[in-house]
Amino acid sequence: MASTGYLLHGPRVAVRHVRRQDYDELTALAQESAAMLSRWLGARENTVEAFESRLRRFEGPSHEGFVICLRGTGAILGGVNINDIVRGALQSGTLGYTAYSSTTGRGYMTEGLRLVIRHAFDGLGLHRLEANIQPDNTPSRNLVRRLGFQREGYSAAFQFINGAWRDHERWAITAETAGAAGRP
Ligand SMILES: CC(C)(COP(=O)(O)OP(=O)(O)OC[C@H]1O[C@@H](n2cnc3c(N)ncnc32)[C@H](O)[C@@H]1OP(=O)(O)O)[C@@H](O)C(=O)NCCC(=O)NCCS
Repeated sequence: MASTGYLLHGPRVAVRHVRRQDYDELTALAQESAAMLSRWLGARENTVEAFESRLRRFEGPSHEGFVICLRGTGAILGGVNINDIVRGALQSGTLGYTAYSSTTGRGYMTEGLRLVIRHAFDGLGLHRLEANIQPDNTPSRNLVRRLGFQREGYSAAFQFINGAWRDHERWAITAETAGAAGRP
């Protein structure tokens, strides 16, 4: 493989933690994908300061940041965060994820997110992962459904995106439903 530090890999992609040296590549990807990302996530700051601040968050116990890479070249294909990790009796986290325009719709996110989920349950000892998705975000709903998430509920006016409070569906997967060991 072209890069080191991979946590897990599948047939086509590998997953590793995001790192400082990824800034230029991630910024270029975010710029070329701005329309696709801002539609669902709102406008995002791509400054070095904003990136450094995200990296600092990932150094703490409550957030983990990953990139999904093409195995052959190491090129970044997507990003996945596990946010708001709560330990103790919950062992839960909330997923955020993005593909990029040039490589979306090829199944890379499905393969990569499956690896992150496995790492969350088997490596980090989490028991539950949630994803909050706007009802008309069909690619995202398809993605989590394919991965075995269940639609659990509906949160009205859940998140402020692009000038309005947007309703979201709450989808979740547990270590049991994912078939992982699921023990802290
Ligand atoms: C949500 C998002 C990550 C989904 O990405 P994606 O590119 O659709 O996901 P994948 O890479 O797994 O591609 C899946 C698609 O590729 C197709 N595909 C093509 N070749 C494939 C292959 N060899 N293997 C598997 N799937 C393949 C699948 O059929 C699927 O299409 P479908 O959903 O129409 O059935 C992406 O749309 C995105 O980043 N959106 C903007 C940000 C966002 O909404 N984030 C989530 C907020 S909740």
